[in-house]
Parts: sequence; C-alpha cells; structure tokens
Amino acid sequence: MSTSPRPDLRRLATLAIHAGNAVDAGSGAIRRPLVMANSYALPDDPSEISWSGTGTPLYTRNGGANQKWLEEKLAALEGGAAAVALASGMAAIHAVLFAALRSGDHVVCSDNTYVGTYRLLTELLPAKYGITATLVDSSDPAAVAAAVRPETRLVHVETPANPTTRITDVAAVAELAHAAGALLSVDATFATPVLQRPLALGADVVVHSLTKYINGHGDAMGGAVIGSGDAGTALVEAVRTEAMVNVGGAISPFNAWLIMRGSVTLPMRMRTHCANAQAVAEFLDQDPRVAYVAYPGLASHPQHTLAARTLDGGFGGMVAFAVAGDSDTQNRFVAALRVITSAVSLGHDESLIVHVSGDDERARFYPEEFRRYGHLRFSVGLEDPRDLVADLDQALTVAVGPA
Ligand SMILES: Cc1ncc(COP(=O)(O)O)c(C=O)c1O
Repeated sequence: MSTSPRPDLRRLATLAIHAGNAVDAGSGAIRRPLVMANSYALPDDPSEISWSGTGTPLYTRNGGANQKWLEEKLAALEGGAAAVALASGMAAIHAVLFAALRSGDHVVCSDNTYVGTYRLLTELLPAKYGITATLVDSSDPAAVAAAVRPETRLVHVETPANPTTRITDVAAVAELAHAAGALLSVDATFATPVLQRPLALGADVVVHSLTKYINGHGDAMGGAVIGSGDAGTALVEAVRTEAMVNVGGAISPFNAWLIMRGSVTLPMRMRTHCANAQAVAEFLDQDPRVAYVAYPGLASHPQHTLAARTLDGGFGGMVAFAVAGDSDTQNRFVAALRVITSAVSLGHDESLIVHVSGDDERARFYPEEFRRYGHLRFSVGLEDPRDLVADLDQALTVAVGPA
C-alpha cells in the first residue's frame, strides 16, 4: 500500500481501469460479467458454513461477485487494505457508526456535513442507541481537540464539506483522534481518491457515496467504507458482517456493475470537473450580481492554502454561491437556467444546482453570507465551461438584470 499523501495520477488512472477487472473464466470475456444471482452453489458438505459469514460465495447479502470486484477496485484506488460496498452513501455512514459505536459512546463530527449524517448523529443515534455527538468546526483542529471526551470513540469529518466546501486538515485531525484513543473516519465523497487519499494521511476508514463522482453518471446508488491499518481493517470487517450481512445494507449487483464501469473514467472526469468548477467560480466571483462564492480554488476561500497543500490536482467540482437578492431572486435565477438542471445529487456528468434557503435548520453552522442569502449548491458538470458560464450569465440577467 502506498503511503504517499500525493498519489501518482498516472497510477491512479491505471488502477481505475484495471483494478477489480480480469478475464472471466467462464466466457473468456475481458470484462467481468454482471452476475445477477442471489445464491451461489454450496459445497457438498455445507455444515461448516457460517450463514452470517462472508468468506464463501453463498448469498448476495453476504457479498456477491460484482460487489467483491468493485470492493477490490475501491481498495486499490484508496490505498486501503479492505473495502465494503453498500447500498448508498448513507448506508455506508450509518454502517460505520453502527459498527464502531455502542450505547454510551461519543462522536466528534464536523458541523458541516451532508444532512443525513447530521440527522443520524443529532436525532436518530442519540434517541435510539444513547450515542452522543458533539458537532464542531473541524477546519479548526483545536475545536476538535476541545470536543474530545474520555468516551469519544470516533471522530468523523467531511472534507470538502457539503454544502460549504469547508476543508479539514485530515492529517492534523488523525493525530488528535489517535492521541485520544479514537478512530478517524473521513467522508471524502467530494474529493474522491483522485484529489485526496485520507488513509495515507492517517484516517482509519474513508467513506464514499458512490452515487456521486465515483459512479459519475447519475444512474446508480452506492456507498463504500474502505479501511487500512489494524483498526481500520477491523472496522471494515465489522461493517461487512454487522451492517451488510445482518442489517442488510448490501448493494445490488447491477449497481455495483454500473459503478465499476462508471469509475473507469473517474480520474479524467475529476480533472474536468475541477477545471470547469474553477472557471465558473472565477466567473461568478468577478460578477457584481453575485453575493458570494465559496470554492476552495479561490484565494478568498478561508482554507484555500490548506486545500492547495492537501488536495492534489484541483479543488473539486462543487461550488456554493448566491445571487445578490432575496429567496425569490435565487428561484428566478434557477428557473432561468437552460443548461444547468435544478435537481439534488452531485458528481453527475451534467451540472446540477439546488437552492437552499438561509433559514435551513443547519444554517447556524454556515458562514454568515450563507445565512443571509441562502445558497445555491452547484455541482459543476462536464459540459463545455463556456456553455456553463453563458448559462449562468443569461440567468443572472433574467433574475437581476445586465451586469
Ligand atoms: C458528502 C456526502 N456524503 C454522503 C451522502 C449520502 O450519499 P447517498 O445519497 O448515496 O446515500 C451525500 C449525498 O449527497 C453527500 O453529499
């Protein structure tokens, strides 16, 4: 396993194509086939098989063929020792919390995360399992250190964070977590292994919504947990048996196959997402009709220097901004867009935008301008950046007037 925090992109591009793939012994095809089977042939004497086991091909909820090939690829891309693919990003995040924690345990978590993570840690796990969480600004390692308690078992950070693009220093937080006897889990959905490999920076497990960039085509849901080191590998295995086999969060073979195929082009797609996002962020940043732009590739971003030091080859495809105006202005702007689609999700080939108002319950954790104007979460796609800029420009003219 590479320990370099800066992956060799040529190597990653090669892995994205070849890892997990091989000649199919049955047909001679040079692509792994889609295996749409629930069950696998049992040995002559099945008495030794554990029905909750994952070692022998048995039943798709215990790990099917396409799932395992996808897991091989994800472990290779992240430089991990073990990986488990699950039904969605939320299934993966829940699986980490479920497998790592028990009643009475405490978690320190970024206060800027995807809403599902927030909901699990502030409502569901406290009420159902007696697990408590402290939400902190994880871009400030001192805030993480101050939140750690004797019963803290896990630190979970999301970087770059949804929706603010806030950046956390994974290496610094890993050191703090380990000094406190806790594990570090990183939701790296926005970065993907192309921009950052958290395991090489000291994280025990990395979590992805495969639904987003790794699949990249907006047509399949999935999630993954990838680990390294003794504790991270043990946690992945606990996720596999507890959350996948017993709770049942298995990914479908078809979705695993689609994600395997989509991920072949991940390195080249990420480079285009980054270049396009940088271009539209710079356009928005200089336009007086725009109230603010949050993008780690802009010098005005609060963690721009940290992002430049710790992300490799670009700053991601996610931009947050607002039009100068009220909530109706944001809606008029979105309605006037012709190339960019108003829809949730992110990391698809096409550009997607979502308007979230400033009185969102989590806005108290966001920068002041997010609270004042709300925000437009913009997943910058793979279209020609000139078309994206032209679309933004004409929609600003409709919503606000000429520049
Ligand atoms: C950073 C991040 N993590 C996790 C998730 C959840 O992933 P999924 O929708 O695949 O469950 C999302 C969804 O948007 C996300 O943005």
